[in-house]
Parts: sequence; C-alpha cells; structure tokens
Amino acid sequence: MSEFDRIVDGIRLPWATSDEILEAMKTFQIREDDVWLVTYPKAGTTWTTEIITVLSCGCDFTKRGEKGVNFVDIKRPNMLEFAHVTAAKKTSPRIMTTHMQSRHMAREIITKKPKIVYVARNPKDNAVSFYYFHKSNKLIKTFDSWDEYFQAFYDGDLVGGSWFDMNLYWWNRRNDDNVLFLKYEDMKEDLASAIVKISEFLGWPVPEGKLEEVVKHCSFGSMKNNPKINRTNSKIIDVSISPFVRKGLVGDWKNYFTVNQSEALDKLYEEKMKGSGLTFRYT
Ligand code: A3P
Repeated sequence: MSEFDRIVDGIRLPWATSDEILEAMKTFQIREDDVWLVTYPKAGTTWTTEIITVLSCGCDFTKRGEKGVNFVDIKRPNMLEFAHVTAAKKTSPRIMTTHMQSRHMAREIITKKPKIVYVARNPKDNAVSFYYFHKSNKLIKTFDSWDEYFQAFYDGDLVGGSWFDMNLYWWNRRNDDNVLFLKYEDMKEDLASAIVKISEFLGWPVPEGKLEEVVKHCSFGSMKNNPKINRTNSKIIDVSISPFVRKGLVGDWKNYFTVNQSEALDKLYEEKMKGSGLTFRYT
C-alpha cells in the first residue's frame, strides 16, 4: 500500500475513498428519483455533469449553481463533511456522481433503481486522459513513465479498478429502464443529440429554442474557458502540468501508444469483452 492508495476487495482505491465511505455506501439510502452519473475516471464525467446540471435547472444558466453535484465516493482534504452526509440532507431530485465499481456502490442502487447515466470512453483515449490526471492530481500517484502507467492500466491496477470490469458491468445493464448508456465518442460527434437523449431520459426538457445555447455552453471550448470547470485555481490539480479540461479528442491515444501496446490492448479487449457487442470509435 502506498501513501496514495490501497486495494480493497481486489480494487485499488484512492486515499480519498476511505474505509468509512465504503462502509457508509452499504447503507446509504437511495431515492427513486436520484440521478446518478457513473463513470470510469476521465470518461467525460465533468462534461456530462455539466449537461445534467444545466438540464436540472431548466437550462437557466443563472441557476446553474443551485444544484450541487456530489461525488459520493470522495472526500477531499478541504471538505468539511463526507459528501454522502451532505447528499442525505439534500432535497430531491439529487444528482450524484461516482467512479465506484459496482461492488462498492451504494447497495440500494440496484434495488431502488434510481436513474443512472453511464458514460463510456474508448479505453485507449480513456487511458491517456487518466495518465495526465495521475501527473497533475496531487492526491494520486504519478507514474515514472507512460510504459509503467500503461502496464497498470492493462492490469486494471489503477485507482478505480479495471476499465474492463466497469464498462462490461454497465454495458450488460444498458437495456434496464433506469439506465442510459452513453459513449464519449458519440457525444463528441453530435452533442445536441446527446443532450436531447439525456434530457428525455431524465424527463428534464430543454426549453423551446434553447438547445443551441446549451450545446454552446457544454462545448469543449466553453468548458475549457470556464475557470471553475477547468479548475484553474485548484489546490489539488496542478494545471501547469496538465489542464483539467485537457484536449477533449477522440484519437489522441495515437500520440502515446506504441504499436505493441495498441495491439496488446486490442487483444485484451477481445478477451475481456468477448461476445459483449460493445464497440468503440478510436479515431
Ligand atoms: P482529455 O484528457 O482527453 O482531454 P472526466 O471529467 O471524467 O475527468 O473526463 C475528463 C476528459 O473529458 C478530459 O479528456 C477532458 O478534456 C474531457 N472533456 C471535458 N469537457 C469536455 C467537452 N465539453 N467536450 C469534450 N471533452 C471534454
């Protein structure tokens, strides 16, 4: 166990996801009208959070700050109380986010069937984005090299556990009535359609004539220029190493993966996701 993380039930967890949080998730009370955004780290959480939050306020950007989003699995050093404690006091509908693998999620998520938006990103771009997050985030470890990091991603030995386990779990639940399974690459290709899909799933309509404005607000450029979203003043993210909203591309992995690494990951994908039918766009 390093100073940054540890393994619990076979899953490497960051220091910020304490045993107390894991214990609390066993009895954390879910409400049927909760909205949960579930993602593997760096799959587009902040982006989708922004969309959901804007929709929750009737697309009124002035009210955007009223519905805080809770990362229930994390307690940062500056937080006065656990996020799940804050969440328990909130009025419905609550919006919550988690990177937890299914076995650590609030148990009632399965039985109470809240609305779950899951965002998946192709493993190669997801890996590169997470690599930079390891470099810039002071609460998780930095790898000495891309090669060392790649091996840990391949082995599912990063905080948050295996990309494959998490994506397969939610892909297999994609047809449940309370689950919306989205892909980062589709959102990039057609953001307006993704926003409409999320809006219809959550039952939070985009007011007539507002869609274009919401698309603009949630575009990569606007989010990068928003200091709050891009964490420019963060004490946890060193943006001089890598900005939080970094490149937002499909295909950036080609600048990092060697041919061997790309082929090895393709082979692993074949093994792990065999027969699942889940495919991604890589360029
Ligand atoms: P990159 O590091 O590849 O640029 P998360 O929010 O889960 O941490 O995911 C972060 C990734 O989402 C980063 O990817 C970030 O740039 C990208 N991202 C954030 N906002 C985006 C947007 N509006 N459009 C496309 N990608 C976005």
